[in-house]
Amino acid sequence: MTLAKIAIVGCGRPAQRWHLPTLAELARRGRIDFVAVCDLDQELAARVGGDYGLPHYANVEEMLDRHKDIMAVDVVTGDPSHHAVARLVAEHGRHVLVEKPMAVTLPCCDVIVDACRRNGVYFEVAENYFRMPKQRAIAKILGAGILGEIVRVHFVEPKGRRFRSFEAGAKPKNIGRPVSRFASYSGVFLDTGAHRFSQLRIYAGSEPTRMVAALRKYRADPEFVHEDWGHALVDFDSGAVGVYETSRLGEETVKYCQIAGTQGRILDHDTFGPQLPLRVMVGGGMRDIPVEFQRRRVGDLDVLNRIVVHTDPPITYENPYADCAIDDWSVGHAEEIMSIANAAANDEPPEYGLGGRKDVEMCMAAYESSIQGMRPVELPIHGITSYEKMLHDDHRDQFGRAIDQA
Ligand SMILES: NC(=O)c1ccc[n+]([C@@H]2O[C@H](COP(=O)([O-])OP(=O)(O)OC[C@H]3O[C@@H](n4cnc5c(N)ncnc54)[C@H](O)[C@@H]3O)[C@@H](O)[C@H]2O)c1
Repeated sequence: MTLAKIAIVGCGRPAQRWHLPTLAELARRGRIDFVAVCDLDQELAARVGGDYGLPHYANVEEMLDRHKDIMAVDVVTGDPSHHAVARLVAEHGRHVLVEKPMAVTLPCCDVIVDACRRNGVYFEVAENYFRMPKQRAIAKILGAGILGEIVRVHFVEPKGRRFRSFEAGAKPKNIGRPVSRFASYSGVFLDTGAHRFSQLRIYAGSEPTRMVAALRKYRADPEFVHEDWGHALVDFDSGAVGVYETSRLGEETVKYCQIAGTQGRILDHDTFGPQLPLRVMVGGGMRDIPVEFQRRRVGDLDVLNRIVVHTDPPITYENPYADCAIDDWSVGHAEEIMSIANAAANDEPPEYGLGGRKDVEMCMAAYESSIQGMRPVELPIHGITSYEKMLHDDHRDQFGRAIDQA
């Protein structure tokens, strides 16, 4: 069996919290070979390299030139650099896993798609949520038709400073130039929205045809350029409707996900909690269906073994990492890493790939609809939206070159 040799670029917060420990555990269990780390910040690269006993670099090309055996690279840098780093990796003939959002605009996503195509390598997008155990079990329930036809998928997601009241003097403003600083963070819709649009599509089991959205900035702080509230409505080809609302301040809302079908519903207030509240029509009445989460110890860690949904016949999700010290959350990361590892070692197309582009497309449609006064935006998007154009212009003004040439 060939083991994929994998390196990481970007050793900041999400890498330290999820990617690095998961890569190391997969290597300990003989599923991959974890070979090198890289970060522009030399001190950070050295510290992380020391922690994991791996060679460290501050320059991607130097790492790839020194380690000809690296087969795939996990890119965990800030959003605006994904396409440039991914293209560099592809041009060195290596497969690439890039964090979500795939890139900050569709032309930037296409930089990755084209570079990988030209160089005969695969790309995968590190969209982790749908790969988490509970979400995989939900997809199995929906795939088995337990909820009937899906009519609506609804996410409400308070973020961060969730119960803070509105600031005095704050006026609602439509979004202007939300990613104009080209720092790591690119607004709530590109950040959490990319995850939720992925889940909306997967749970609706259909492709979006049209979106309407309102995104507003309420914070008076001029330094804060992104939207801090957003609401999107999605029309799916199947006739299902998707609703997504997220907020960084103000409204006292609770986390909520409801998948409603003609035969039942899942109503979940804790996307990662150890329960899956499923209610379906049985013999003319609604009945709660028990869902069991079976766990085991791996070292010091309480690890999920399987999820059993007590339908007739039962539906079972088996955790492919039940023998690893990987918690439920990081199973999503293990899955995306193994997706690019299998692509590299066995020439298997990655699981999600262009799905990551579709998530960005839905984000772009939402930004565009809001800018155009909540005008519906048809999907797929052809050409460049005015939002993307504005972002590209901003980049040229600030850095003197086009972002998709960066
Ligand atoms: N999937 C998830 O649940 C999840 C959660 C959090 C963040 N993320 C994503 O992870 C990515 C990273 O997050 P962040 O920006 O907050 O992390 P961060 O700012 O903490 O770390 C990014 C690191 O990348 C390094 N870096 C940047 N450009 C580089 C280059 N060209 N070569 C080598 N190193 C480089 C920086 O020095 C920094 O240490 C983002 O795209 C973010 O959206 C995903």
